[in-house]
Amino acid sequence: MARTWTSKFKDHHVTDKSLYLNRRQLMAGAAGLGLGSIAGPAMAAPEGLEPNPLEDITNYNNYYEFGTGKTDPARYADALTTEPWTVKIDGLVDNPGDYQMEDILAKAQIEERIYRLRCVEAWSMVIPWNGFTLGSLLERAGVQSGAKYVAFETATRPEEMPGLRYPVLDWPYREGLRLDEAMHPLTILATGIYGEDIPNQNGAPLRLVVPWKYGFKYIKSIVRITLQEEQPFTSWNDANAREYGFYSNVNPTVDHPRWSQATERVIGSGLFGSRRETDMFNGYGEEVADLYAGMDLKANY
Ligand code: MTE
Repeated sequence: MARTWTSKFKDHHVTDKSLYLNRRQLMAGAAGLGLGSIAGPAMAAPEGLEPNPLEDITNYNNYYEFGTGKTDPARYADALTTEPWTVKIDGLVDNPGDYQMEDILAKAQIEERIYRLRCVEAWSMVIPWNGFTLGSLLERAGVQSGAKYVAFETATRPEEMPGLRYPVLDWPYREGLRLDEAMHPLTILATGIYGEDIPNQNGAPLRLVVPWKYGFKYIKSIVRITLQEEQPFTSWNDANAREYGFYSNVNPTVDHPRWSQATERVIGSGLFGSRRETDMFNGYGEEVADLYAGMDLKANY
């Protein structure tokens, strides 16, 4: 697959290979399943993209299954059992079935991707993810020609997720992408942060990362991936269609009905914080603008 974005990355920021190996992968190896092959050269940070400390990334979260407060996930998500973990892949695929997490990892090419996460609530941080392309998993599943969209579902575990008691959203949390967005090389399934297993509050053991879209598209703790012809049901669009669209591409020129999207608060930038101007497609326009050629991005927010 063409790696059109590499030109933006500086080579001096290349991460040591050992950092990609998270604990789960090492365990998969120890169990005789073999390590996932290691991709190289590593993805490095674009000019000026300095990752936030792990403390910011793991203590300021949105994961409503554990409560709506920003610190609720850090407080309660430890209760989530992430081993064993199974992802059902179904719908319009040649190889439907229950994919075991160890098996997914054993066959994955884990890379580091340092991306800015821009939340629809107008804040952002920079996260050094470890993960693999969603496209590589979909290729394993064998996408059939009738498939136009990919639907995702989060686990629902009432005994482990106290937030499910509140009907904030129509659980399970569901998200979706158009197939070309899902197959785009920037779209990954993250399994780690800073070279360690992804913490529960960040969506262990497997969560979607689509860097040019608002963070609510980055569905956490995925248990089901369905290839289908129709545009999928998505939780936030269902909760408030006027405020949250299906596309949700980061766009400083299309405001949320209740606030501006022109700038964003930078998490971890001191007591009073600082703001930066929001970039079109969160700075990834060179790579993804073509996906939306000719589309009215105000109507398709
Ligand atoms: N996934 C699930 N299952 N539940 C959620 O509440 N919140 C979303 C997204 N994925 C959410 C979710 C929102 S609004 C954002 S901004 C990101 O996760 C936050 O990711 P982070 O906590 O890793 O920064």
